[in-house]
Order: sequence, then structure tokens, then C-alpha cells
Amino acid sequence: MFDLIDDWGPEKVVCVSDRKTGMRGVLVIDNSARGMGKGGTRMSPTLTVREVARLARTMTWKWAAVDLFHGGAKAGILGDPGAPDKEAVLRAFARALANEVPREYVFGLDMGLSEKDAAVFVDELGDRGAAVGLPRALGGLPYDELGVTGYGVAEAADAAARAIDLPIVGARVAIQGFGAVGQAAAERLVELGAVITAVSTANGAVVDRGGLDVARLVALRAEHGDRCVHAYGSPVDADQALMTDAQILVPAAREDMIDKDLAKTTSAVLVVEGANLPTTPAARAILHERGVVVVPDFIANAGGTIAAAHSMDARYSPFPVVPDAVFAMISAKMRENAETVVRESRRLGLATHLAARAIAEDRVRRAMRLRGQVSAVG
Ligand SMILES: NC(=O)c1ccc[n+]([C@@H]2O[C@H](COP(=O)([O-])OP(=O)(O)OC[C@H]3O[C@@H](n4cnc5c(N)ncnc54)[C@H](O)[C@@H]3O)[C@@H](O)[C@H]2O)c1
Repeated sequence: MFDLIDDWGPEKVVCVSDRKTGMRGVLVIDNSARGMGKGGTRMSPTLTVREVARLARTMTWKWAAVDLFHGGAKAGILGDPGAPDKEAVLRAFARALANEVPREYVFGLDMGLSEKDAAVFVDELGDRGAAVGLPRALGGLPYDELGVTGYGVAEAADAAARAIDLPIVGARVAIQGFGAVGQAAAERLVELGAVITAVSTANGAVVDRGGLDVARLVALRAEHGDRCVHAYGSPVDADQALMTDAQILVPAAREDMIDKDLAKTTSAVLVVEGANLPTTPAARAILHERGVVVVPDFIANAGGTIAAAHSMDARYSPFPVVPDAVFAMISAKMRENAETVVRESRRLGLATHLAARAIAEDRVRRAMRLRGQVSAVG
């Protein structure tokens, strides 16, 4: 495991096992210079220590990029999340990490774990603060249902548009993907005055230069799912959505959807990455050369991360979480972060992804220096 360690971390890797249940798991605390390590807990039959360490490092940069005072961490259990003995495995995992949780790490949700599993962690350790992502009946908040990520994508789009002098009122926006993120982004963008001219799902796209009726599309999605575009009428191929004449593109479906060809031809002046990794590295370089501003995924879709920070803070409070307070925090953070990245990318002459990473590294390095963990030079 020593080859996992570089100048940033990990600071601590705790591998645990339990003979009775066969549980095997790992906690990686990557870097806590800016605050306690925080990142979700996953369960997968192919989990490796290396994978968890890589995800913990990603969290170090994510927290620093959004300028919230947590460090990077991640935990994982090797196993089938659908197995009948899941609860016993989760309980064994929680017990094995009782020295670290909740002082150094708090369980959270990632692949393979649900709100119910968060409740099991809390019960096993007899501490409400042992996990975030709890069911509503235990004081948690259903972030996907509330659409926090999509809301944040729209707020980032508005702030970035302002930064490049593009008025959001009347701006034409094409959205790829109409799931949890795409729908909530569309709804908030309409509230902000934008005109949604194209929307796609895996089943096709609908396009209207005069503006789609988003409320109608939302109602149709509740009834027909991805086939809402057919129910809306006059569907075209799914890949048409991002090719339409729009000023803002919001890829909110999957990775690698904006490629070199689209980057060369798009009419958009702003791309706001709702999905993870929706723009290929080659496409990013072309967009940067063409002066198209891209709000990077880990900035634009950090609404859920900010909501998780809110949950961390609220763990021991007897008061129910107020959704308005979460939205207000997301709005303020998303706007500040989007503006900073656009400004710093211009100042440094770097593509926004590189500028955001440079900002994150700088913040972590500064914290390490102030704590005396590294020398002031170098
Ligand atoms: N849900 C969150 O809070 C969250 C947070 C951060 C990042 N993300 C990322 O955002 C993306 C979307 O997540 P989601 O939760 O909205 O997923 P989702 O499953 O709710 O929705 C995905 C949408 O994309 C559509 N889609 C799939 N392939 C498509 C294609 N080829 N063309 C057009 N549309 C297509 C689907 O039909 C669906 O409408 C993913 O990359 C996810 O990792 C989500």
C-alpha cells in the first residue's frame, strides 16, 4: 500500500475484516489539512483499496475546489450490495471502524448504499453523528427528490453567464439528459428567465427555438419516464439536442458526450457540466481555444456535495433540516465558485478545469503550510 502515498496523502488507510460475516472493508483518509475527511461509503463486489484511495483523493480536490472546510476521505466494503446478509456486514464494518467514526470519518452514501444503510450505521454505533444521508424520518433530507444538484447547475450557469456578460434572461439553453439533474436544472433555469430550446433523454430529443414548455415536460416525465419526449410530440434523435443553436449547453446525461466534433461546431458560448466527465479532454482544449467557457463538472454539479456538508453540520441538531436553508447555501456557494473559476481561468490563461485544480491544490497546500506540515518554501 505504500506506493499509494505521495505528498498529499493518504494520511491513514484502515483495512478491516470480520471473521464471522466475512466482511472486508477499507477507510482511506486522504488529506485533512483543511478539515475532517469526508466522502461517501460504497459497497461493491469488485472494490479495491486503490479505488477507494483514488476516490478519497478526488474528494480532497472537490472540497477544496468548492472552498468548504472538509478534507478528502472515502470508505468501501467489498461485497454484493444485494446480498441477504448485507445488514450484518454493514454492522460489522461500523463496529470495526468504531475508533475512527465519527471522530475522524462519518459514513455517507455512495454506490451500493441507501438511506436505510445509513440508519444501520447510526444504530450500530449508537451515535446520530455516525452517518449522513439518513431517511427523512430520522432527520435526513432526500436530496435527489429535492433536485439539489440540478438547482446548483442552474445557479452556476447563471453566475458564469454573468461573468461573460451573457444575460440569462432570454438565453437559449440546450439540456442533454432529463433525469434528476437535467430536470431540476431546467426548472431552475426557467425560473431565472432562460429559454430551454432543446431537451433530450436516451429516447430522443425535443427542440423548440421559441422555448419548450418545461412544466409540461416534467409532468410527462412523471408519467412516461424517458419516453416523455415522445409524449411531448415531434421528437428527433437524442444527439440533436446539443447540436441545436443554443448559447448555453448543459450536458446532464453521461460521460464523453461532448467530443471534438461538437466542440468545433457548437454555437454555444458557455458549457455547464451537469454530468460527470461529459466533455472529452480533447474537446475541452478546443472549447478553450475557441473561447467557449466550460464550468467544470466538480464545480457545476457540487450541489449534492454542498448539501452533504450541510448534513454534516446538522447531524446533532434536534431541528429538522429546512430545505430553503440548503438551497440558499447551494446558491451562494455555486455562484461564488463558478465566478472564481471563470475569473481565475482568464487570469492564468488556463482552461477552467486546470484553473479549478490549481486553485484546489493551492488551497490545500496553504492549509498544510499553515499547520506546519510542510516547509514554507517549495
Ligand atoms: N444525481 C446527482 O445528484 C448527481 C450529482 C453529481 C453528478 N451527477 C451526474 O449527473 C449525470 C446525470 O445524473 P442523474 O442523477 O440525473 O441521472 P438519471 O439517471 O436520473 O438521468 C439521466 C438522464 O440522461 C438521459 N440519457 C442517457 N443517455 C443519454 C443520451 N445518450 N442522450 C441523451 N440523454 C441521455 C437519460 O434518459 C436520463 O434522462 C451523471 O453523470 C451523474 O453521475 C449526478
